[in-house]
Amino acid sequence: MRRLLPGRPAPVTDVPPKTGDTRPLPGHVAIIMDGNGRWATGRGLPRIAGHKRGINSVRKITRHAKARGVRYLTLFAFSTENWLRPKEEVHGLFDLFRYYMRRECRTLAREGVRIRFIGDSSEMPQDIQSMMVEAENMTAAGDTMTLIVALNYGSRAEIVTATQRLAARVAAGELSAGDITDTMISAELNTSDFPDPDLIIRTSGEQRLSNFLLWQAAYSEFLFVDRHWPDFDEPSFDECLDLYCQRDRRFGGLRKSG
Ligand code: IPE
Ligand code: IPE
Ligand code: MG
Repeated sequence: MRRLLPGRPAPVTDVPPKTGDTRPLPGHVAIIMDGNGRWATGRGLPRIAGHKRGINSVRKITRHAKARGVRYLTLFAFSTENWLRPKEEVHGLFDLFRYYMRRECRTLAREGVRIRFIGDSSEMPQDIQSMMVEAENMTAAGDTMTLIVALNYGSRAEIVTATQRLAARVAAGELSAGDITDTMISAELNTSDFPDPDLIIRTSGEQRLSNFLLWQAAYSEFLFVDRHWPDFDEPSFDECLDLYCQRDRRFGGLRKSG
């Protein structure tokens, strides 16, 4: 409690008054699914057991996000830097990805969920590349929610490629350097078909982006959750949505209320 000096007006409170106004739910939620390894080692299990368990969370959260009316859900599954991990872990992750795709694609198609991938698929094993194409085709008509899986995704690599494409157009005389706009850069990114994320959640307590959606996150809200990804469940997701709804997104302008 702040002590008041006699005769002075009450200080302006630090907490904005509750108006009952909350923001609409986020249209696009992106999740850095972190902590599978720690979940497993904390239980004396091999890291791959954590990744396996993480698939349950993927299933649960995908279904739940759709039920809550989220239109785009992006999941960071494998980064361009994750190749630095031991071969066995990388192969284990790819095997789990195969297992997930075989089991889930048809269900997602039935539920109206459209799958799209971002990242450099050309470096993935050939059979996985085929599965990715097949999954995108099989679910193309889905119109309830788009599930964007970031696989071998790195935001810097994506920005480098976008820059090279624009530079090539300048060199070809199609475009002058001074005419390049942020919309043109966005259009060259892997995410060109999707809106920027409204909310980015990272599980497991780390507070960094790890090369995820650097350009697209310019005005995203961030939530860092202490739970490991295998423990992240529907109530955890709901809690994140509630916290998001209390945020005042100003985009450089002034507050709407309070
Ligand atoms: C996230 O869990 C999954 C991937 C990066 C593929 P981690 O494997 O990073 O788990 P921690 O961070 O080591 O606990
Ligand atoms: C980010 O997690 C990548 C994914 C969740 C796929 P990492 O575990 O790879 O990130 P760092 O190494 O802790 O930054
Ligand atoms: Mg990690």
